[in-house]
Amino acid sequence: MNSINILVLSCGIRNKIIQYFKKELNGNGIVIAADCSELAPALYEADRHFIVPKIHDEKYLDKILKICKENNVKGILSLIDPELSTLAKHKNEFLSIGVLPIISEFNQVELCFNKYFMYKFLIKNNFKTPKSYINKEEFYRDVKEGIINYPVFVKPITGSASFNINKVYCKEEVEILFKRYNNLMIQEFMDGEEYGADVYVDMISGETVTIFTKRKIKMRAGETDKSISVKNGNLFDLLQQFVKKAGFRGVIDIDIFKVNDEYYISEVNPRFGGGYPHAYECGVNIPKMIINNIMGKVNDVNIGNYEENIYMMKYNEVMILRGNL
Ligand SMILES: Nc1ncnc2c1ncn2[C@@H]1O[C@H](COP(=O)(O)OP(=O)(O)O)[C@@H](O)[C@H]1O
Ligand SMILES: [Mg+2]
Repeated sequence: MNSINILVLSCGIRNKIIQYFKKELNGNGIVIAADCSELAPALYEADRHFIVPKIHDEKYLDKILKICKENNVKGILSLIDPELSTLAKHKNEFLSIGVLPIISEFNQVELCFNKYFMYKFLIKNNFKTPKSYINKEEFYRDVKEGIINYPVFVKPITGSASFNINKVYCKEEVEILFKRYNNLMIQEFMDGEEYGADVYVDMISGETVTIFTKRKIKMRAGETDKSISVKNGNLFDLLQQFVKKAGFRGVIDIDIFKVNDEYYISEVNPRFGGGYPHAYECGVNIPKMIINNIMGKVNDVNIGNYEENIYMMKYNEVMILRGNL
């Protein structure tokens, strides 16, 4: 049998993702990890690893294509947002050398990367989402008219990892932030609970094959730190409709707010979310689905097949490396 080698780009500290792929491959292929830092711990979890240029370096793509060819890579994915557009844009170059990129189409990736585009998309398609503005004067007008009230969230339109996110209580604060930073958006404060969904859309059939949902109990540095698995038919229906409408493919991580018993879709990352281990440990095996797709097998639709009330608590680990790098 041909070995199913999988390349994980920008692996960083996502050791669990590497472990899961190794486990699911079960010797039928190797996991190769790449990162621009030789101190990215997930590199040393993989069967083979490469230190590569930074993602925006002009040599980056050629280097990755070369690694694919020389290591008989069959599937590729990235774990960080700024790289997803590149992977989507060059999808055909990978396909032409026999590598399946686990990623949505370019337009869908761009839609996720720009939170204001996503807001517009959600509104246009009648999905509930926190009210958002990029024009602060328009926002001030709506405050005067009582359409929106403080506090609000001010955040970068293309941000991630909770970088530069502020809860803001007055106009003066909005002014200071807009003076200091470009490309900000103002968003209605969602006073409720946060939920997260891990979704896999089959790369071959285009069907949503799995959805795992969790209520976030505690966030830390923009990541889910503690969560509990939940199941709700309305939420599954909503997510299925949304994913279908947007036309995603592959692994999708969705942030949701629940306010007054209504679900609001907040933001989408078209990759493995930092909280994916919760889904895997509850039996929602996305690495296996990816391997099936790489082998040309379509996955069966199997939504909500996991246990409720399973808690995830994150904790730190260390990796020790001896010798000279
Ligand atoms: N409008 C909002 N109302 C309440 N909390 C918010 C809002 N926007 C962001 N947050 C908080 O900040 C976190 C990160 O915001 P998010 O928009 O998901 O950006 P990121 O891309 O950094 O994950 C959210 O998980 C939530 O805890
Ligand atoms: Mg988020």
